[in-house]
Amino acid sequence: MSSRWLLLGLLSTCAFADQPNPQRQQELLNMLKHDCGSCHGLPPKGGLGPSLMPEVLADKSDALLIDAIQNGRTGTAMPPWKNFLTVDETAWLIQQLRKR
Ligand code: HEC
Repeated sequence: MSSRWLLLGLLSTCAFADQPNPQRQQELLNMLKHDCGSCHGLPPKGGLGPSLMPEVLADKSDALLIDAIQNGRTGTAMPPWKNFLTVDETAWLIQQLRKR
């Protein structure tokens, strides 16, 4: 019985471990506004870059979107962000975009 609770505790700790801390979340949301917004719009309905609104992202996988953000798209204006964002942070940003 008690070991089951311990296991549950460990699992839930892991599930939240890749969430950025609240201060970093704020930084990431600012980045979305100021850096991504300059090309994707604010709200990100599209501009130089395509729309990042939930209804558009619904058809696209996390893997595809993470790759686009981490590595950029060669030959387009989309720059790579992997020097500024970890994969976990990128995944968190996509989660925010999906629920806006
Ligand atoms: C200098 C302009 C520019 C900036 C800044 C920029 N993007 Fe982009 N982004 C683009 C362009 C242009 C594309 C389309 C690339 C293509 O044709 O495949 C794109 C594509 C994407 C895609 C892929 C969308 C799809 O449907 O395949 C995602 C996701 C994305 N950007 C997210 C971001 C995020 C998040 C940021 C900020 C961290 C950001 N972009 C900043 C120009 C930009």
